[in-house]
Amino acid sequence: MDRIRIVGGNRLNGTIPISGAKNAALPLMIASLLTRDTLTLDNVPRLADVALLKRILGNHGVDCMVQGKRAGQNGLSGETLELRAGDIVDTVAPYDLVSKMRASFWVIGPLVARMGEARVSLPGGCAIGTRPVDLFIDALRTLGAEIDIDAGYVIARAKNGLRGARIAFPKVTVGATHVAMMAAALAKGETVIENAAREPEVVDLAACLVKMGARIAGAGTSTIHIDGVETLSGARHPVMPDRIETGTYAFAAAMTGGDVLLEGASASILERPLEVLRQIGAEVTETNHGIRVYRNGGGLAPVEVTTEPFPGFPTDLQAQLMALVTRAGGTSKIRETIFENRFMHVQELARLGAEIHLDGQMATVKGVERLKGAPVMATDLRASVSLVIAGLGAEGETIVNRVYHLDRGFERIEDKLGACGATIERLSG
Ligand code: EPZ
Repeated sequence: MDRIRIVGGNRLNGTIPISGAKNAALPLMIASLLTRDTLTLDNVPRLADVALLKRILGNHGVDCMVQGKRAGQNGLSGETLELRAGDIVDTVAPYDLVSKMRASFWVIGPLVARMGEARVSLPGGCAIGTRPVDLFIDALRTLGAEIDIDAGYVIARAKNGLRGARIAFPKVTVGATHVAMMAAALAKGETVIENAAREPEVVDLAACLVKMGARIAGAGTSTIHIDGVETLSGARHPVMPDRIETGTYAFAAAMTGGDVLLEGASASILERPLEVLRQIGAEVTETNHGIRVYRNGGGLAPVEVTTEPFPGFPTDLQAQLMALVTRAGGTSKIRETIFENRFMHVQELARLGAEIHLDGQMATVKGVERLKGAPVMATDLRASVSLVIAGLGAEGETIVNRVYHLDRGFERIEDKLGACGATIERLSG
């Protein structure tokens, strides 16, 4: 199994190109199930989760072609995918595929909307808590689907199609908002989603669905209106830049000091994390090319942060923030409110010398003068990358094991950081 070796202490200087967002690319790819025509997606990141979803969609009958590179494209720009679900040959999403990635469960929405049936295994994914699917089931039932759970599968049936309805989510859920929006796009009549997730990835999916002919208004607010249409058509859509990758490299730049341009990044979808980064002591400016993060000499200040749905501080940056403030001059408090078990990085950060006290959902981080490299591993994607940030700020060598988690969500991380002066390499086997 591959590992990443880091020798900490180098400042990061240079340009890091920001990839297309994993968490936008996945639902956009799934939207291809809604139409017989070709959905072309540009700027799709080269990630293990994208590759796995290609296989899952292939199983349903989606032809998935990668367009050749165009002139001027370099190895760091994303792929263009052409997805064509001419005929859905199978409405079953099997356990061995769905158990590897939670987002693949989301095929249930388009499948039942277009085909009137779907049989999808209960999901797996990162080990960050129980992550139930009750809100998906409630939403699909509200749209008129009959739902049974049998032998680890959710079976959804709507022989006469789905019907528009009012869906009021009791809590904000990104995945169930995506699924409700896709399913309602092909339902008969009007759907109103209340307490919808406002994440930029929901806005990106809605924009693509509208290009496909869907009638959707209000994405990005907590009330989304959808007027169902009979069929959707093909479209071309670029995947938005990855705000979590952007935040991760911004925090890495703050950790090491230096001057980094996050090329192609958008500050408007990252306001709260950038505000926190400024409080910690980095300078952050928006340029025509992206976001510049700069820290020279000054120390890191402690902060108090609570994770929240968008536009609050994202849970997907909580681990990276924690790595950064392990070296702050004072005590930080970080409260996780989205997932109940998203602190696997805590004991690994402690191996590098961090002082973190956990009390339920609250982590109290007492800044230390220095971290010292060590072998570490993590059991989820964002926890793994927090160890990379800590390793960059630690003295000596850090080996991050179980790199496959990083490959699920970070495209060529060692190349991107290496190009800015980090000592970082992948050790194979
Ligand atoms: C998405 O997961 C992201 N995944 C996650 O990113 C992200 O952490 C999360 O949103 C929150 O922002 C993708 O976009 C592929 P939720 P999702 O439904 O949709 C509870 C990463 O590292 N809930 O918004 O699965 C749930 O347990 C990943 O890239 C129910 O109770 O998250 C959680 O407490 C990890 N019942 C809360 O809602 C349900 O039926 C929010 O989860 C569904 C969710």
